[in-house]
Amino acid sequence: MPRLLVVHHTPSPALHSLLTAVLDGVADPALADVEVVTRPALVASAADVLEADGVVVGGPVNLGYLAGALKHFFDQIYYPCLEDTVGRPFAAYLHGNDDLTGGLVALEKITTGLRWRRVQPVLGVTGAPSLDDLAACRELGAVTAATAAGLLG
Ligand SMILES: Cc1cc2nc3c(=O)[nH]c(=O)nc-3n(C[C@H](O)[C@H](O)[C@H](O)COP(=O)(O)O)c2cc1C
Repeated sequence: MPRLLVVHHTPSPALHSLLTAVLDGVADPALADVEVVTRPALVASAADVLEADGVVVGGPVNLGYLAGALKHFFDQIYYPCLEDTVGRPFAAYLHGNDDLTGGLVALEKITTGLRWRRVQPVLGVTGAPSLDDLAACRELGAVTAATAAGLLG
């Protein structure tokens, strides 16, 4: 059974709504064969990543960088996964108040180092999530799950 791993740091209602929308997207009946494993970034492990066919990462930008919990996740999994997850499909959403630049740059650097395959542009959301933002999260979840299942390129 194809498996999608959703790694998230969710410290506020805004981020909770984004995570929920991602999971709603994966709940599409067309993706019923995909197993979804959801892990807070502070407890997600290298084994979780190694066992997944696709990964969604989401959380805040803090102090001009990825939130510490997301950095901790990548710090932990980087070398254990480096050789064995090349080409892993992934997508990501980042949330902040006004400036996501440092987080977007960091995410690009880290995932380029891991040689993961981004299935769509990183979704950046600032302020209160709009209906369009939530729809984009649903699509992000669905597209990543479908790619993990081999239903998309
Ligand atoms: C210590 C701290 C630093 C932050 N730094 C940034 C930042 O550099 N850029 C940004 O857009 N938002 C920043 N934020 C806002 C958070 O990203 C935001 O609080 C988080 O995404 C949750 O959203 P919410 O507070 O609207 O619920 C920061 C928040 C905190 C607490």
